[in-house]
Order: sequence, then structure tokens, then C-alpha cells
Amino acid sequence: MNYQFKHHSVLLEKSMDALIIDRCGIYIDATFGRGGHSAEILARLNSQGKLIAIDRDQAAIDYANENINDIRFKAVHSNYSEIREISNTLNVTGKIDGILVDCGVSSPQLDDASRGFSFAKDAPLDMRMDQTQNLTAELWINEASESEIADTIYNNADERYSRKIAKAICIERAKKRIKSTLELAEIVKQSIRHSGPTHPATRTFQAIRVHINAEYSSLTKMLEGAVDVLKVGGRLVMISFHSTEHLIVKRFIQLNRPGNENLKRGLQTPTVPRLKRIGRVVRPSLVEMRQNTRSRSAQMRIVEKIA
Ligand SMILES: C[S@@+](CC[C@H](N)C(=O)[O-])C[C@H]1O[C@@H](n2cnc3c(N)ncnc32)[C@H](O)[C@@H]1O
Repeated sequence: MNYQFKHHSVLLEKSMDALIIDRCGIYIDATFGRGGHSAEILARLNSQGKLIAIDRDQAAIDYANENINDIRFKAVHSNYSEIREISNTLNVTGKIDGILVDCGVSSPQLDDASRGFSFAKDAPLDMRMDQTQNLTAELWINEASESEIADTIYNNADERYSRKIAKAICIERAKKRIKSTLELAEIVKQSIRHSGPTHPATRTFQAIRVHINAEYSSLTKMLEGAVDVLKVGGRLVMISFHSTEHLIVKRFIQLNRPGNENLKRGLQTPTVPRLKRIGRVVRPSLVEMRQNTRSRSAQMRIVEKIA
């Protein structure tokens, strides 16, 4: 394999130890990125093993096809929310030994200014992971209502100044269309009082990115499909980064594991529990956190399909 990756894969060793239960099994890396986890999965499989990698970003899939030349490997350009359909098409439903999900954006997406995810450099406000979709951050920020912008920034990133920020955005866009990352970052900066090391637009950018890419609804749909495509005994290993992602994963596990604790909160426990938890929440070591700042908020949860 002619292979180099430029993304520090989070919890690499621990996620592999949790995921690979059978060296000749079939695995899905639902978030290929630059293939750090995929490369390690392939390294641990024997010649019988198979790996299907999914990414909604065509640049990630191009990277996979250019750099991984391995008959055990297949890259699919799709939203992972379509995991059931992908598995049906590839005729592997119910045969999957393990699925890995490493949520969020990759370093190359953040580092490529033209993608518009970051305000570190000036760029068009894009923020689409899948560049074939129509909705960009520029379209949305100039057309959504003030209340929708405020709610989105509050709900997706717990930004307490969401109303002030939304108001400032609407005042500024009435004068001139907001087109670039730095324009938006500056509007946010001017609209709120801020202190501390984090840029005041950090939460706003995160919230808009989550919205443009419908990240939370995709995650919810993928988790539901993932249980169907796993075989009994197969594992789902999920690495999440933000409080809402953690919550979606936690609720999903609670809803599907044995016990009736959900009934107390008015949630419906499925009649047949489908998952059991393997171990506790895993976090990166201090060394990893120091080496890779992105890993600091990471939480890994592992479940096994039991029915
Ligand atoms: C954090 S990176 C994954 C990094 C990867 N584990 C590695 O080691 O290189 C997340 C990747 O998942 C992709 N992604 C995020 N949400 C997705 C979704 N709903 N469907 C498919 N891919 C998604 C992003 O495009 C990005 O490339």
C-alpha cells in the first residue's frame, strides 16, 4: 500500500482494539477522512478480511482511491445515514463485524481554506462536506430568518449570545451580502463581549457547519441503520466530540440496551434489547491530548449487537 495520511486519527489504538474482533471479518469505516483508521483496520485484517469506507466528501473518496490499492478495500461516496442502503447494495447486511464512526470534520477539510469551514483564513462561506449538495453557509446565512439563525446557533453549539449574533448578522446582510468566512467572523466578534483564548466566532461556525451538513440527523439515522447491518456479536465503535453528539450516542445506546430505565423518562425501550455496552466511555490519554488538540473533547463508546 502506497500510503500516507495527514490526519491524526483519534484514539487509534483503542478504537482498533475495540473494533477488530475477527481478523477475517467485514468492517465499515463510516467516516474515512484521510484513512488513518482505515489503514490500521487493513493492517489488522488478514487476507480474507474486507473493509468498506464511506465518506460524503468526494475529496476523501478520491484520496482513498488514489492511495489505497488493496483488493480488500472499497470506498463509497455517500452520507453514512445511507448505511442500510449501502450494505444492501453490497450484499453485506447482517454480515458486518464492526463499524467505526469518527464524527465531525477532518483536518484536511479545516486546513483547506477554500472549503470555508474555518475563519483562520479568508474564504467563501461554503462549509459543505458534500460539495454536490446545494445549500452552502453563504446561502443560508443570507436567507434564513433571524429567529432561525438564533435558534440554530443556540441549539447546535450552546452559544449564549445567539440572539445578539443573529441580530448583527441580519443588520449587516441588509447592507451587503455576507460572503466570506472573515466577514462573518468579524460580525460575530463585533456583536458580543468576549474574553478568553477562544475566538468569539468558534461556536457560531460550529453551529452553522452542523446545520449545513445536517450532522445530528445524519448521525441519528446512521446509528439506527448500523444496528441492522451488524451481525449478532458485531461491534459499533463511536467517537464523538460535542455535547450534542455525545447525547445522541448515549440516548441511542440507552434505548437499545437491556433494562427498563428509559421507561422512567417516558422513552420507549425496544421490546427486544439489541445492544450491550462494552466497557465504559473511553477518553484519550493526556499524551494524546497534548499531541492532538482535536482529541481533547473525544469520547468513545463501544456496543455489541446482541439481537
Ligand atoms: C474526523 S474525520 C475522520 C478521520 C478518519 N477517521 C481518519 O483517521 O482519517 C470525519 C470524516 O467524516 C466525514 N463525514 C462526516 N459526516 C459524514 C456523514 N454524515 N456521512 C459520511 N461521511 C461523513 C467527513 O467528510 C470527514 O472526512
